[in-house]
Amino acid sequence: MSKILVTGGAGFIGSNFVRMLLQGGDHRIVNLDALTYAGNLENLQDVERNERYQFVRGDIADAKAMDAVFAEHRPDVVVHFAAESHVDRSVLDATAFVRTNVIGTQVLLDKSRQYKTQRFVHVSTDEVYGSLGAWGYFTEETPIQSNSPYSSSKAASDLMVRAAVHTHHMDCVITRCSNNYGPFQFPEKLIPLMIANALEGKKLPVYGDGKNVRDWIYVTDHCEGIREAMANGKAGEVYNFGGNAERENIFVVKEILRLLGKGEDLIHYVKDRPGHDRRYAMDSTKAKATLGWTPRHTFEEGLRQTVDWYVQNKAWWERVRSGAYQTYYQQQYGGR
Ligand code: NAD
Ligand code: TYD
Repeated sequence: MSKILVTGGAGFIGSNFVRMLLQGGDHRIVNLDALTYAGNLENLQDVERNERYQFVRGDIADAKAMDAVFAEHRPDVVVHFAAESHVDRSVLDATAFVRTNVIGTQVLLDKSRQYKTQRFVHVSTDEVYGSLGAWGYFTEETPIQSNSPYSSSKAASDLMVRAAVHTHHMDCVITRCSNNYGPFQFPEKLIPLMIANALEGKKLPVYGDGKNVRDWIYVTDHCEGIREAMANGKAGEVYNFGGNAERENIFVVKEILRLLGKGEDLIHYVKDRPGHDRRYAMDSTKAKATLGWTPRHTFEEGLRQTVDWYVQNKAWWERVRSGAYQTYYQQQYGGR
């Protein structure tokens, strides 16, 4: 039985990953999360009493606090999700992105080396490769050409991981994935925002001409890829994961309205995001060939399941929107 330190496990993808690991295998999980606005322990309410699960509140950029966490838990593996993750917030102020994504990653690498963690899995994004024109795909060999403060901070963290492999011979694996969607995604990202707004009869803000393309992947497909990379990835390698589902934003928004039986009059074109990347598309050949991974969900199935989840879990996203979710930690953990 190994001990896995999952950072950012109270966020969207991290909480789905923690749940997946607890459903099979015999790993013990320590979920380390600072509980920023994006961290929500209600995402893991169903597993919080599992004896293989433990939550620790902590800031990955705080080296002293991380030393205490590593000294106490001595993880065999670190799976690193914790990050500032929203591009629009990085346009407004990049400070927290540099602190968490760059410095926080470096602190975790230092502590992993000091405490002899066996493997470090760094969860990154296709956005580090920059933007594509109408044709082509990102492979693991595509040069890093990040464009937003978010993606540039992730690119910097990827390069610090690369440096740890080459300089200190650490056993690190980098995963880069396309846009995720599914249960427990914070309703500031495109798909949950549009579902929640449509359910409340609010306008759906579509940036620019709505023709930017993202390669959508259902969150548990991404989590399976990370699990495979953790178990069978080769030290120093990068693995791309994509959903085989390139769609224009306006198509996604119209599909959501159709699934909800709402009219397209809710669509509201707004000013474009500054520096808005036009198209992302992933070539996942390497992960398929070497990890035996493949995404299980088509976009149509995944989107239907996601829309159903937000319809059935209105209380979850209403508590996020009202801010009530932020009292959960105090109530359940007494502020420890
Ligand atoms: P999220 O914003 O939902 O969750 C981030 C989590 O990190 C939150 O629980 C937050 O509290 C925590 N956190 C933030 N700062 C912290 C700090 N200083 N110390 C400790 N914890 C901190 O993000 P997500 O969408 O779940 O993304 C998780 C990871 O996956 C990120 O590294 C992101 O770059 C990467 N990724 C996301 C996507 C996507 O589509 N969402 C795609 C590819 C890669
Ligand atoms: P987002 O979910 O923020 O992910 P990312 O920027 O990391 O790809 O946005 C997905 C796409 O949807 C992106 O092209 C921007 C667009 N978008 C809108 O058109 N309106 C919105 O309100 C949001 C949040 C995003």
